[in-house]
Amino acid sequence: MSTSNAQAQIDLHRALAPRYAYRYSLPFSRLFQQDWHAEMISHVPSGAGRVLDLGCGTGFFLAELDAKHPGAVGLDISHDMLRVSEQYIPGARLVTGDAERLPFQPGAFDVVFCKGSLHHVRDHVRFLANCREVLGSNGVLIMSEPCNDNPLIRFARAVLYRKSTHFDEGDEGFTRKGIVRLCEQGGLEVIKVKKYGVFAYVFAGFPDHLGVLKHIPGNVWITRFFLGLDRVLCATPGLSLLGFHVLVIARPRA
Ligand SMILES: C[S@@+](CC[C@H](N)C(=O)[O-])C[C@H]1O[C@@H](n2cnc3c(N)ncnc32)[C@H](O)[C@@H]1O
Repeated sequence: MSTSNAQAQIDLHRALAPRYAYRYSLPFSRLFQQDWHAEMISHVPSGAGRVLDLGCGTGFFLAELDAKHPGAVGLDISHDMLRVSEQYIPGARLVTGDAERLPFQPGAFDVVFCKGSLHHVRDHVRFLANCREVLGSNGVLIMSEPCNDNPLIRFARAVLYRKSTHFDEGDEGFTRKGIVRLCEQGGLEVIKVKKYGVFAYVFAGFPDHLGVLKHIPGNVWITRFFLGLDRVLCATPGLSLLGFHVLVIARPRA
């Protein structure tokens, strides 16, 4: 990663760390995040034990991963984000580092998770090649990234990333085709691609950005309803264009 982007991400996430703590503190937003995690975890092959969460941020997901796969490792470029993890997973196995220069042995992990970290780096192929390198030959990458297949979402995201101080203007989403191509260039074979998140993503996912649901009684039940609806939308050809994230499951190419 260029030093300037690395430093920009460190500075950005220093300011964002308290917002993440708030984001994961409300019952309805936790419910949404836990559903997202369950979707990602459902793709872990049986027998997988050694897990890395690449770009683990404040460790909210890592805590769940560690409960299922004791000894799960979290890596993040932002020490300020990692510091928040103490409240979810005291004594976690954490590494402050750059996903573009991983300090692990080849084949060290059975599963690498990336939840929203790829779009923060500038050399996507290098990031993905590094994931491939640290995966064992039967390992899997389970990744969820912002999806820009829908022109309206692409436009809204471009405006948000450029105008809001909570994003870096160099960050960008991916098209389904584009992220598959990047995986292939990084030496990975894509096994599955699906969309995740429509209404629950918008209204329950980020109360630090859009807080309307927190004022509405029954917001946990509303979130449950949205989660069910989103599942149907994302599984329906044509309507899956509404999905805000693209979930990619890939393995090292032989
Ligand atoms: C959108 S946040 C997601 C955090 C966490 N996965 C979650 O779902 O809460 C992206 C994370 O990627 C981290 N990040 C950005 N660039 C990185 C890099 N080059 N190497 C490792 N982590 C990076 C940021 O510090 C931040 O914690």
